[in-house]
Amino acid sequence: MTHSPEQDDFTRADKAAEFIRQKTALQPKIAIVLGSGLGGFADELVDATVIPYSQIPHFPLSSAQGHAGNLVMGKVGEVAVAVMQGRTHYYEGHSMQRITFPIRVFSRLGIKAMLLTNAAGGINLQLEQGSLVVLRDHINLMGSNPLIGPNDDRFGARFPDMSEAYAADFRKLALEEGKKLPIKVSDGVYVAVHGPSYETPAEIRFIRTIGADTVGMSTVPETIVARHCGMKVLAISCVTNMAAGILDQPLVHSEVLETGERVKHSFVALLKAVIPRMATSLQ
Ligand code: HPA
Repeated sequence: MTHSPEQDDFTRADKAAEFIRQKTALQPKIAIVLGSGLGGFADELVDATVIPYSQIPHFPLSSAQGHAGNLVMGKVGEVAVAVMQGRTHYYEGHSMQRITFPIRVFSRLGIKAMLLTNAAGGINLQLEQGSLVVLRDHINLMGSNPLIGPNDDRFGARFPDMSEAYAADFRKLALEEGKKLPIKVSDGVYVAVHGPSYETPAEIRFIRTIGADTVGMSTVPETIVARHCGMKVLAISCVTNMAAGILDQPLVHSEVLETGERVKHSFVALLKAVIPRMATSLQ
């Protein structure tokens, strides 16, 4: 494929990365995406520089409630991180390529690891509202893939391997740290659906049958693009509600945000414990 300046994502990602470099001298080691209701973690960063997405060249803007829309650069202990306080979703009408653009910017910033978080519905009946699930694998039911279209070899290979989408050493350390928390932390398989309507009870029975533990509307496109650029990924679901049809009550988004608020303390504790260990494993 030929690349004309400013018209390909590689050039656009470089431009956004350059803009971010001029805002802070920090060289982040890990990029973190905070899901619905989980944005509070960004307030915990030391030496923080807050950059609204609207200022960053070509960055997609989120309209979802519970997503702030800032890139926060700062430190967790000694580890420099880049934190997305809010993400864009496929259901907002953006292309998959657009919602995953920030991941490519992180790759151009030299970041080698992603920590993705999301709010998810619990499908496995062993789960409960407020528990955390470390993703062991995923199933993409979004009906699309962010790598569709001409491949840019400067990012990665045409057919990226996904046999270890979520790095085994990251998963192990996250589960170890999770055991120290007062809430339940297990591992599981995440199904990504298109949304924005929640699933029907019949869809949830189908999704359980194919081997999923949690369901949500994000994360998988970001993981695919991160793996394409050779980054290691850790992803954690917060079970904000049990999926449709499990409890005798309708699903409401306010419940998702409320559960996020309730587990905030444990969630922040887990991220703070995991990040320094992820950084060590990258060396
Ligand atoms: N389904 C899909 N996405 C979600 C859910 C759910 O039950 N909860 C939070 N995000």
